[in-house]
Amino acid sequence: MAGRIPKQFIDDLILRTDIVDIIDAVIPLKKMGKNYGACCPFHEEKTPSFTVSPDKQFYHCFGCGAHGTAIGFLMEYEHMDFLEAVADLASRAGLQIPTTEGARPAVTQDFTRLTQALEQADHFYRQQLRHHPEADSVIDYLKGRGLSGEIAAEFGLGFAPEGWDNLIRAVGTDEKMVLDLKIAGLVTQKDGGGHYDRFRSRIMFPIQDYRGRLVGFGGRVVGDGEPKYLNSPETPLFHKGRELYGLYKSRDEIRQRKQALVVEGYMDVVALAQHGIRHAVASLGTAATRSHMERIFRYTPEVIFCFDGDRAGREAAWRALENALPVLEQGRQVSFLFLPEGEDPDSMVRSEGAEAFLKRISEAQALPDFLFGRLRDGIDLSRMDGRARLVELARPLMAKAPDGVLRDMMVDRLAQLAQTDRLGLGSSGPKTPLQSRRPRAAARIKRPLQGSLVRHAISLLIQNPDLAHGVDGPEDLQGLDLPGLDLLCKLLCAASERDEISTATLLEQFRDNEHHGHLEKLAAEQHMVEGGALAREFQDTLLRLKAQRVEQSLDRLLAKASPNPEDKSRINQLVQQQEDYKAQLAKH
Ligand code: UTP
Ligand code: MN
Repeated sequence: MAGRIPKQFIDDLILRTDIVDIIDAVIPLKKMGKNYGACCPFHEEKTPSFTVSPDKQFYHCFGCGAHGTAIGFLMEYEHMDFLEAVADLASRAGLQIPTTEGARPAVTQDFTRLTQALEQADHFYRQQLRHHPEADSVIDYLKGRGLSGEIAAEFGLGFAPEGWDNLIRAVGTDEKMVLDLKIAGLVTQKDGGGHYDRFRSRIMFPIQDYRGRLVGFGGRVVGDGEPKYLNSPETPLFHKGRELYGLYKSRDEIRQRKQALVVEGYMDVVALAQHGIRHAVASLGTAATRSHMERIFRYTPEVIFCFDGDRAGREAAWRALENALPVLEQGRQVSFLFLPEGEDPDSMVRSEGAEAFLKRISEAQALPDFLFGRLRDGIDLSRMDGRARLVELARPLMAKAPDGVLRDMMVDRLAQLAQTDRLGLGSSGPKTPLQSRRPRAAARIKRPLQGSLVRHAISLLIQNPDLAHGVDGPEDLQGLDLPGLDLLCKLLCAASERDEISTATLLEQFRDNEHHGHLEKLAAEQHMVEGGALAREFQDTLLRLKAQRVEQSLDRLLAKASPNPEDKSRINQLVQQQEDYKAQLAKH
């Protein structure tokens, strides 16, 4: 993924970013010597062991080992993906992300104005809920649905009164503002020119994205009417397929409980919160998408979907299942809770209370049970052709799941149900596309670099990339057969190519490298050496490596049964070089 954004841009971005500002904005940092410190946000602690190094542009916790660059911090702490983290830093630094082919469109538009338009509208809607002559009936309606004033305020509920231009008159003070309101999805253009409010006579639910930024609204008619809910359209800020209503509010509780509830409606989220169940989110009038699933799994390994027990609910559940299967990696769980017909979480929790509702949740159906239950529905498994049909229906679904124990177990279950060991899906049998799709995670993990000279050199270099400027190119090292040497050469090249370089810039250049995790660990190590001694230590290490290379070549030549004259002169040359290295090392 990182490949789509030019590496040069990542360089610039890291150089223009100060990790201290980024982290200090969310966790106040204290200056401690050369570095900054705080209590670690990634584990519980009373005395600070979290440090941020402005030199390395890198954070590290001595308590739990968490570490990374500014991009890494946003990914870990704010649960952003790589592109989101880059976009976030870019907008802070005022940089435009260059679009290369296949990349997402430029992320930095002038979002600030759109956000301002949304916030002013939000303010207006909330005001109207307090002061509009018809507000009383709206408040009665909300009370009638069991919501307290506190919960309504907490979720920022508002009121868009009847009329075509209330919002335009209140907020659209000039043409530019009307245009912003339009781009933000709050006003619609008339055919003959002019504009009108999108939301009229509706209770307004502000929608925050996963970072708590206001991005859109959902509006419910007061009482009966069609359409019951109207949502903001897709805008540069609002993408229904990615955002989940309530996620920002619920995220801490989701993390703590290690569980998220996914419900269908705004009112469900609010009503559950009213009853103290605060780990619910809603997909916004669409089935839960793959990105929804990816997003929510960044906070918790367990997701429980709640659906009406009616036909529509079952259909929606099936779509959710299809979207969840591909992201069901090791350790993740998905369950389905089907409520009695005609009930939704809102009506349910109001009628039976939180405890009974939580009990239902704990008894939700596991994804594989729902999957097989539904597939075998209507199939006569006592017939061979019935069992064959089951296999055919299950095959594409199994193929969606990533390799892993869960999929293996589902395949086993299918074999049992179908009474066959000839699925061609199991672990014996010929390799089907199913099996060979992806190497097992374990096979992808490479042996870490050993505690060697190479490791020491890499560790010194990653922490002090400027060292690369003081050494000759890596040519003298090439051909040396040691684990990690190739990586060391690449690092040397990357670092020496750049005039200005920090640990973070170098790390970001190697984000896609298989050893990236290992490099981060090395970056976090503390060396006792500093200043001039550091450069000497690094040169020594490289010299020793070069000496090793000479020795390897010598060994190879000396092992030859009958060396030719060329070999002999090469041997002389190498011996000379060896002496040379030894002399240099002795001088240090
Ligand atoms: P429901 O029709 O189940 O409504 O739609 P609800 O949440 O129970 O609403 P209340 O309890 O009558 O107030 C579930 C969700 O589907 C989307 C909304 O996100 C809604 O919360 N929806 C529904 C729409 O977007 N438009 C509609 O017209 C209806
Ligand atoms: Mn409802």
